[in-house]
Amino acid sequence: MAASGISQGGKDYHLPWVEKYRPSKIADIVGNQDAVTRLQVIARDGNMPNLIFSGPPGTGKTTSILALAHELLGPNYKEAVLELNASDDRGIDVVRNKIKMFAQKKVTLPPGRHKIILLDEADSMTSGAQQALRRTMEIYSNSTRFALACNISSKIIEPIQSRCAIVRFGRLSEQDILNRLLDVVEAEKVAYIPEGLEAVVFTADGDMRQALNNLQATFSGFQFVNQENVFKVCDQPHPLLISSMIRHTLEGNIDEAYRGMKHLFDMGYSASDIITTLFRLVKNYDMAEYLKLEFIREVGFAHMRIADGVGSLLQLAGLLAKLCKARTRAKAP
Ligand SMILES: Nc1ncnc2c1ncn2[C@@H]1O[C@H](COP(=O)(O)OP(=O)(O)O)[C@@H](O)[C@H]1O
Ligand SMILES: [Mg+2]
Repeated sequence: MAASGISQGGKDYHLPWVEKYRPSKIADIVGNQDAVTRLQVIARDGNMPNLIFSGPPGTGKTTSILALAHELLGPNYKEAVLELNASDDRGIDVVRNKIKMFAQKKVTLPPGRHKIILLDEADSMTSGAQQALRRTMEIYSNSTRFALACNISSKIIEPIQSRCAIVRFGRLSEQDILNRLLDVVEAEKVAYIPEGLEAVVFTADGDMRQALNNLQATFSGFQFVNQENVFKVCDQPHPLLISSMIRHTLEGNIDEAYRGMKHLFDMGYSASDIITTLFRLVKNYDMAEYLKLEFIREVGFAHMRIADGVGSLLQLAGLLAKLCKARTRAKAP
């Protein structure tokens, strides 16, 4: 059976797939099994502690927060939940007034349930606003609980962190993403070949939002999901071109490696597009460990220089030369 959450698809043809296929129940959130299990326990037992959800984009933080609040509060959701998104004003005054008013509001809830304030992308709040938040958190802890989402928990001030349990999310595995894509292509009757879905998984790099968006963009642009179309739509250099370049450097063949690089550069890919894909492929390339470490080191340095603004073809050519020499420079253990 298709994953549930999927089954509700098809009602609205105009929603982007990321929204249409956003799981509404905690049980339908894929990956991060520890985090999901913890949330299910909280949803069942109530008495939600203040929570910080932290982790990279597109891994299910916002989805989890919404699902948890719905499971805890059911029909009381509208009355008992205050959602403040990054697009809302969340300066000190709003925290002082809006949040405080909500925290003071009387809502009758079943025992063990609390009003919930959801703060998405809380790491974008100023530290002043966070200080004000912290005080509300202390004063109203009997009636109101907070759920914060952020990419990096260290951007949340220490006194808030120490009042919250932290739920960590990591990038989703290729398998988890692929399974979800398979459900979606079935529900949407997408024409595809397996290599096309693999390409989508590759471009997403553990980010489900990216995966669904890239799948939908490829489908609406080409009506067919194969590798070529995916890399065209996502505007990323084709990994096959890059991995053949890696192979040439491993063989010490600078001419061929350079030809490949020049080709990519002439196609209009920026040095940072190229280096990002190169790094991901090197990381997973089948080569001796000591060589891989050397490669990663050199790619890392080049990435740094490119990030500093020196993204020329010469920079990339220099990198290829270093990689070609890595075999002789690095010693096998
Ligand atoms: N773990 C997951 N399981 C299923 N779908 C997911 C998961 N993570 C993200 N998605 C999909 O990606 C979209 C964005 O996820 P979201 O929870 O908003 O990510 P973020 O971690 O950036 O808050 C969701 O609408 C959903 O379609
Ligand atoms: Mg989010």
